[in-house]
Amino acid sequence: MSNYHIKHLEEYFQVYRKSVRNPEGFWEEIAEEHFSWRKKWDRVLSWDFKKPEVSWFEGAKLNITENCLDRHLSVRGDKTALLFEPNDPKEEARHITYRELHGRVCKMANVLKAQGVGKGDRVCIYLPMIPELAVSLLACARIGAIHSVVFAGFSSTALATRINDCDCKMVITSDGSYRGAKTLDLKSIVDAALESCPGITEVLLVRRTGNQVNLIEGRDHWLEPLLEEASEICEPVIMDAEDPLFILYTSGSTGRPKGMVHTCGGYMVYTAYTFKNIFQYKEEDVYWCTADIGWITGHSYIVYGPLANGATTVMFEGVPSYPDFGRFWEVIEKHRINQFYTAPTAIRALAKENLEFVETYDLSSLKVLGSVGEPINEEAWHWYNNNVGKKQSPIVDTWWQTETGGIMISPIPFVTPTTPTYATLPFIGIQPALMDEEGREMDGNQVSGRLCIKFPWPSMARTIWGDHQRYRDTYFSAFENKYFTGDGAMRDAVGYYRITGRVDDVIIVSGHNLGTAPIEDSINEHPAVAESAIVGFPHDIKGNALYGFVILKETGEGRNRDNLQKEINQQITEQIGPIAKLDKIQFVSGLPKTRSGKIMRRILRKIASKDTSNLGDISTLLNPEVVEEIIANAL
Ligand code: WT7
Repeated sequence: MSNYHIKHLEEYFQVYRKSVRNPEGFWEEIAEEHFSWRKKWDRVLSWDFKKPEVSWFEGAKLNITENCLDRHLSVRGDKTALLFEPNDPKEEARHITYRELHGRVCKMANVLKAQGVGKGDRVCIYLPMIPELAVSLLACARIGAIHSVVFAGFSSTALATRINDCDCKMVITSDGSYRGAKTLDLKSIVDAALESCPGITEVLLVRRTGNQVNLIEGRDHWLEPLLEEASEICEPVIMDAEDPLFILYTSGSTGRPKGMVHTCGGYMVYTAYTFKNIFQYKEEDVYWCTADIGWITGHSYIVYGPLANGATTVMFEGVPSYPDFGRFWEVIEKHRINQFYTAPTAIRALAKENLEFVETYDLSSLKVLGSVGEPINEEAWHWYNNNVGKKQSPIVDTWWQTETGGIMISPIPFVTPTTPTYATLPFIGIQPALMDEEGREMDGNQVSGRLCIKFPWPSMARTIWGDHQRYRDTYFSAFENKYFTGDGAMRDAVGYYRITGRVDDVIIVSGHNLGTAPIEDSINEHPAVAESAIVGFPHDIKGNALYGFVILKETGEGRNRDNLQKEINQQITEQIGPIAKLDKIQFVSGLPKTRSGKIMRRILRKIASKDTSNLGDISTLLNPEVVEEIIANAL
């Protein structure tokens, strides 16, 4: 039998070696024994990181929903697939079995077809965390349409950019969403976005909040009546392993968001295999990942990975602070959660509250705790370990990215001994490399450098939608023949990896990946602003927060600074979303620049972090005098 489920450290090393020595043979065995294919592949892998081109299971035919739904019906049809926990704890949780989910996905797929959506068409999904969100992803996958989920916290401008970038023809949204005590009006955000999206001909509306909405004749349709009429039978469209499954946008260090394209076969195999091992999922377990499906974590580890394993996966609509700071722990007790996967920013926020919020609840069902999205600091790690896991549940600190599709570096619980702040060892099949400034791979241990991956893995993104050149420039040009992650890392004496953070112009705020360029672009559009630079600085809860240095135009000089700050943040909220708001805005007369005109962010970063003891050599700057002024007025 293949090594689908790893149970001890020796086995990990043995399987790891096998996966590196003969990747094709290794992945072929996993793919063959644990998934349903309509036709097997002609070739397991072909790749060339120079082009770059990667394909896995070429020639194979499948539909991922057969693997996530149909094949479970005979063995666990009545098992809960989706467990929906609503925002309001007084509203009843909903258990949706595999059989019911299958039926709902087929109905929804039939609705999509009836509305003219077919294989290869792009469908934008802008929904809160309600069951229809998971159903919509799967319904697209059922008929070969490519879903592009946009996190329902993004603004109308951000939504429009993403809809237009990949020419979506339909949007699936809802009348509104509940978030804690607030009700948000999603439909009017969509309406505003669609004013600049001529390609959208259909909007499907889920009723969730009962908000009044404005329906546009011919374009907008309530989903419910369409579903009622739709058949529960929908034959899956058979896809090539390398056909796109979805597009998901992530920020880049320049301008437009990057639509990462993930494909059907490799993505399925890798997310399922990592899910099984990294969460040590057993048939009776209830697994909960608190991420939103609007991010890759939700795609891979709420929907596809768990369902491919026949797991019970929880979808939580609410927030950790509503109705109080005990909500996570209450839900763990209520549903007897066995695996709990969340973000350091949530842990830090909850660790600030009274311990009673945790201690009130029975958390004894927990077996594995997970962390994702940003480095988890030592303090948060210990709080999580002591108070949530009661030192009984290993913490898996999982490092990965939207681009990687699945978890890349992580402990395997009960297998890999954990160390706080270390993502520990590469997962099976993953070949990391640390590179020095000159582009040489650093051998041996106790080294730090830029983190690259030197061999393809099945779930890697294959391209950026509509811009293959950018895919190559961003990921494959910094280091020859290697995928560059944008992160820095160190490898300690025993070979464990610790991720030290981004080395590019991406800032991780509360686990959200934000590019400096789009935020700066948005600030610069303010009529009073001449130029700006954004950097991150350490923040207790968010990990990093944003600090903006802003040069005003002459016309802006006389304006009230408080009002300007509000307007700038308002502008960012409208163009990107509230997650990109600045914590601090400092008005400056100039920005430190090199002689070639490049902003020296390194210096600004130090100033923002109140660490100005060692700024390095600033004499080569075009305008060294501005540095003193900025330091003197720093916030
Ligand atoms: C960036 C990717 C992958 C799911 C969520 C984020 C940072 C992610 C960790 C971790 C240290 C981490 C990296 C990475 N990151 N997980 N366990 N330890 N850093 O996906 O939005 O594509 O962001 O998040 O900097 O490059 P994403």
